[in-house]
Amino acid sequence: MTYGGEPTQRSKVTVRTLREMKERGQKIVSTTAYDFPSAVIADQAGIDLILVGDSVGMVVLGYDSTIPVTMAEMSHHVRAVARARPRALLVADLPFNSFQASAEDAVRNSGRFLKRGAEAVKLEGGRRMLPQIEAIVHADIPVLGHLGLTPQSVHQFGGYRVQARGREAADALLEDALLLEKAGCFALILECIPLELGAEVSRALRIPTIGIGAGPDCDGQVLVLHDLIGLTFGKPARFVRRYADVAGTMRDSLLAFGEDVRSGRYPSEAESYLAAPAIPKAEPSA
Ligand code: KIV
Repeated sequence: MTYGGEPTQRSKVTVRTLREMKERGQKIVSTTAYDFPSAVIADQAGIDLILVGDSVGMVVLGYDSTIPVTMAEMSHHVRAVARARPRALLVADLPFNSFQASAEDAVRNSGRFLKRGAEAVKLEGGRRMLPQIEAIVHADIPVLGHLGLTPQSVHQFGGYRVQARGREAADALLEDALLLEKAGCFALILECIPLELGAEVSRALRIPTIGIGAGPDCDGQVLVLHDLIGLTFGKPARFVRRYADVAGTMRDSLLAFGEDVRSGRYPSEAESYLAAPAIPKAEPSA
């Protein structure tokens, strides 16, 4: 096993870097990471923003939704990712029930993530979350907003479906986006909305938008790592582009290992240890 990434020449990504990237028209690239090796590899690939998303619940922990994910589970993953000391901005996702009830909860739990190595937090929701967002920003913790299809509201939405298709809902989302910018969010995730609205919101805001199923005109794009490397099961969402078949590679590797063990081809002598050579006896001195 090898540990640690290549020493990187590029400077640390901060919330300011992302704002400057938008100003320069440079796209922001983001993915999720839930563990140390993924964070190292994401950093080696030049990812700008690593999100320890509550998608960990569905992708890695086998839950049906993100709702069961707890602060303890998220903290475990945030710590693992933070140990990679990524150049990318490290954002931790506040899980369901860790911020909705009060601004106090939101600040306390955001602070817990920062103590575990996160540099910013993300939370889902529009204008109803303004007190929470303002309180977290007031505590000097950068906040990434999240609008559109917010998976923690799946029961309210009645399923995972495209949001804000009509003009009225689009106007409400645009208004939410402007309010979140005013409240101090450093960027916004826009999930599963029409591409026209993704473009409209991105034009209207000074802070960057990072789209996931929100069209090509967002200031950046995020995909769940396991989706893009082919390590999730079932039919992927329309916006997922698969760059690899890691599940297939893992399965083939394990099949080959199984065959080698069963046939006696593994391990070879070169993959085994030999006993220490016998030490020659000393000649008795004359
Ligand atoms: O939890 C997550 O991974 C997310 C991204 C899909 C934006 O919220």
